[in-house]
Amino acid sequence: MSAKTVLSGVRIAVLGAGNMGQALVRGLVDKSVYPQYISVYDPDPKKIALLKKDANIRAAKTSRQAVSLADVVILAVKPQTLPEVCAEVSSGLPAGALVVSIAAGVTISGIEKHFKKPLPVIRVMPNMPAQVGQGISAYSVGRHATAKHRKIAEAVLAAFGEVVPVPEKMLDLVTAISGSGPAYFFLLAEKLIESAYEMGMKADTAKKLAYHTALGSGRVMMQTWEDPEDLIAKVASKGGTTEAALKTFKRLGFGKVVQEAVKAAHRRSRELSEGRS
Ligand SMILES: NC(=O)c1ccc[n+]([C@@H]2O[C@H](COP(=O)([O-])OP(=O)(O)OC[C@H]3O[C@@H](n4cnc5c(N)ncnc54)[C@H](OP(=O)(O)O)[C@@H]3O)[C@@H](O)[C@H]2O)c1
Repeated sequence: MSAKTVLSGVRIAVLGAGNMGQALVRGLVDKSVYPQYISVYDPDPKKIALLKKDANIRAAKTSRQAVSLADVVILAVKPQTLPEVCAEVSSGLPAGALVVSIAAGVTISGIEKHFKKPLPVIRVMPNMPAQVGQGISAYSVGRHATAKHRKIAEAVLAAFGEVVPVPEKMLDLVTAISGSGPAYFFLLAEKLIESAYEMGMKADTAKKLAYHTALGSGRVMMQTWEDPEDLIAKVASKGGTTEAALKTFKRLGFGKVVQEAVKAAHRRSRELSEGRS
């Protein structure tokens, strides 16, 4: 018999089986959540059938059916679909159910207003590496959520990877750093590959070099937890190749470019949270 955890006996409904919903369900099952305690609904029957086949979860025919016995309801739909999904389940939610939303830019009060009664809401900004269990999720709690809800949400989100609490006003900045962040690292990989290719290297060799460099660098950061400056000093020697590259980054304003990009993402996240399209 498996050991008792925070999620033992907790029934979870996942609404939306797209990229993130699927990753969450698979991660939960990997973390030994009993699959028959996970109920999933998505309008695409093929997505549900695949999850049922792979993970043996309960396939719901409607979102209302999915939430009917749930202790935790995960809203893993696109932000524009969220109002419709909340309307579908609003009157069918069991008393005391915790609502966890991963929809980007939808505020806690924006979620609460879709429900007639006060209910505990936790808003999360995960990121795309959640799809391989290596994400980081920042979350904020609504006014009706208790310490117990927080613990349950953390245990659910562990299926995505790491978890960190933040005040809700920080979530736009989280979006600009870790939410959009994977794309920044992918962009750097793309530019390394393009540079190598243009200078005569085969594309697949360049890709292998860039991807392994990203993986190795990530592992070094996580294993040593040293500051980037100290890690850079371990690669760059005086008068060497890395220093030549770093000087070029500096001369062309790389730091400023990153800062401006983060500001643009932050601004856009705020606009979306405020309902401006
Ligand atoms: N992907 C990321 O890297 C990432 C990162 C951070 C946050 N998020 C947030 O996570 C949420 C999900 O993103 P995603 O990338 O997983 O999107 P996605 O792949 O489009 O998944 C959303 C799923 O919800 C389904 N759906 C539509 N209407 C529904 C309904 N009434 N009830 C239940 N399910 C319904 C969609 O079906 P159809 O396709 O048939 O419409 C789709 O399968 C979004 O709000 C996004 O902001 C995503």
